Amino acid sequence: MARKPAPRSRGGSAPSQAAGSDPASAAETAADAAHFHARNRIEELRDLIGYHNTRYYDLDAPEITDAEWDALFRELKELEEAHPEFVTPDSPTQRVGAPPQAAFGIFEHRELMLSLGNVFNADEFREWHRRAAELAERDDFALVTEAKIDGLAMALLYEDGRLVQAGTRGDGRRGENVTQNVRTIDSVPARLRGRTAERFEVRGEVYMPKAGFEAMNQERAAQGEPLFANPRNAAAGAVRQLDPNVTASRPLAMAVYQLGWIDGTAPDTHWETLAWLREMGLPTTPETRLHPESEAALATAEAWVARRDTLPFDMDGVVVKINEFAVQRQLGVVGREPRWAVAFKFPPAEGTTLLHKIDVNVGRTGTLNPFAMLEPVRMGGATIRMATLHNEDDIHRKDIRAGDTVVVRRAGEVIPQVVGPVLGRRPKGARPWRMPDRCPVSGDPVVHPEGEAMAYCPNPVCPAVVRRTVEHFVGRGAMDIEGLGEKRIAQLFDHDLIEDGGDLYALHEKRAALIALERMGERSVDNVVAAIEASKQRPLAALIFGFGIRHVGGEVAALLAQHFGSVDAIHAASREEIAAIDGVGPVIAESVSAWMANERNREILEKLRRAGVRMAEEGGGARKGPLAGQQFVLTGRLETMGRDIAGAALKRLGASVGSSVSKKTTAVIVGDAPGSKAARAKQIGAPLWDEEQLLAVLREHGVQVAEQER
Ligand code: IVH
Repeated sequence: MARKPAPRSRGGSAPSQAAGSDPASAAETAADAAHFHARNRIEELRDLIGYHNTRYYDLDAPEITDAEWDALFRELKELEEAHPEFVTPDSPTQRVGAPPQAAFGIFEHRELMLSLGNVFNADEFREWHRRAAELAERDDFALVTEAKIDGLAMALLYEDGRLVQAGTRGDGRRGENVTQNVRTIDSVPARLRGRTAERFEVRGEVYMPKAGFEAMNQERAAQGEPLFANPRNAAAGAVRQLDPNVTASRPLAMAVYQLGWIDGTAPDTHWETLAWLREMGLPTTPETRLHPESEAALATAEAWVARRDTLPFDMDGVVVKINEFAVQRQLGVVGREPRWAVAFKFPPAEGTTLLHKIDVNVGRTGTLNPFAMLEPVRMGGATIRMATLHNEDDIHRKDIRAGDTVVVRRAGEVIPQVVGPVLGRRPKGARPWRMPDRCPVSGDPVVHPEGEAMAYCPNPVCPAVVRRTVEHFVGRGAMDIEGLGEKRIAQLFDHDLIEDGGDLYALHEKRAALIALERMGERSVDNVVAAIEASKQRPLAALIFGFGIRHVGGEVAALLAQHFGSVDAIHAASREEIAAIDGVGPVIAESVSAWMANERNREILEKLRRAGVRMAEEGGGARKGPLAGQQFVLTGRLETMGRDIAGAALKRLGASVGSSVSKKTTAVIVGDAPGSKAARAKQIGAPLWDEEQLLAVLREHGVQVAEQER
């Protein structure tokens, strides 16, 4: 999977103009319209993918399944293939992995941190092996099988036997420096023993064993805190805590499976490398085996499928690697996937159970989300009680009815899915389901816009919508108020202690009423009040994200905070001004403007302001630095560094770096094989710079750019 947030771009010209100026053929107009729709949809998909990437990567709280994300990604990819003119280097399709979060330092990977290609069955595995054998010009090479643990990839850098740095994969070249957090993981040795090398990087998976995961979630449930969807998300969340004490309190483990690079001599094979890593005290992946040939490796991989649930950790497949490094080097890498290794992915776990009832849950944006209440069933290592049903059309298409025995599928995913009914076991009198006419919470008539999959409760103050909004507001990535989970928030609403997120900041005046609440002793009240107080200092971007504005994920919130510097400046900005920010488009701008203008939201903002919540960033948005006010665009391949590095360096000096060339552009920096931006610059007379000019400016301002990339 290649999830990756990326700013949207606004490219292409409005086709309606072309159609208007040339009334020629209807076919042309139709083509223009298709063009126009494709561009809009591409922007929308990039928005959506960006939003869900934030939920997944930054908040570790995904709202959609991996399969649904894959569908969005695939649609974007197909549209971009059909309309290559809209492809931009920062489209999620062009980049992989998550970018580093600014809160952590950068971990530079000296060697690209790779991922794996997948095969799903014996035929695909044999085909992988055939290709490898063809390229190696032999087929008698040995293979190693390893458990594919579902966690997050981590690189450990050791110098003279001491752990000096730990980093996430990030985009494969630059990850987040999470050294302090990884140091708290018991199975990661701070010092190695025996014969070690001067300097090397070892890679592996940080994960949360199932038992620890379940215990932690039980405790969170007791505290009324939100639960983690699965061990993978829980592990990722724990590693990316800003406070290492929090990481230390989470039951994490690590297993290493690969040498990244080494200064010194490495063994000749992967198998010997694993043995060497173990000798030094590093925990290698459990259940590794060496096979003389491919059918034996395949048999082992297939045998794992039946055992997957018996293991103490979540496993989503078996990794098969060619043992000899000489053969590995010969085969090389395509993109970010080595040809010499492959993941044999497990088929999704499936089971049947009784569907008692179809119910509807109201989401933060008012969407009515149907879900199935199931007879509890064990599957893929977990007990499943509920499954998503997407929307009404989907339920009808699959003909799922209450009382049916249904097939449920769980593919290491967030929420299990109902695949369909077992028609032979349908009870007499089972009736097709219908979306209720009224919102089950507010009682308002339900709205189902023409052509849209989802039905909505149109009431912006529907109690469910308001509660979800407050849950989001206090959540991770937003105001991050510990101790205010779904249950506590429900209590506050039920006892009329709050009406919106703004009221949280007056809770300290209602201490007696809080203490009187069930399961709220004096100590928890003090803790919650202190956490609320502390949240007043959250960064502006977190506050903006917390508002829960449609289409505004963490990344867009950060752009808005950076550009405007205060909530007031965003409120004062026109739609056009908001849409002009690189990475923000008209859809988002419209949504932000509408939110800011809304009367109720104005009231909430007033409450926040009165309470002293930070609503502006120091420096008030205007960038500082010697290049403040200058705008650059980068295109083509640079010799000495990646474009991202160049962009970051310019931004550090106060410049802004965008993807579209305009009259305001200070210079377009042109590398090798530049894109259409160079042509556009010539067309409108924007200055063109070569790499030398860029380097000269950077040098002039004392920026040293290491020649490490590429
Ligand atoms: S090798 C050489 N080995 O799965 C390519 N990866 O889906 C690098 N993973 O990014 C990966 N167990 O995070 C390798 N035994 C194992 C693994 C493993 C889990 C993860 C890893 C990788 C992802 C690819």
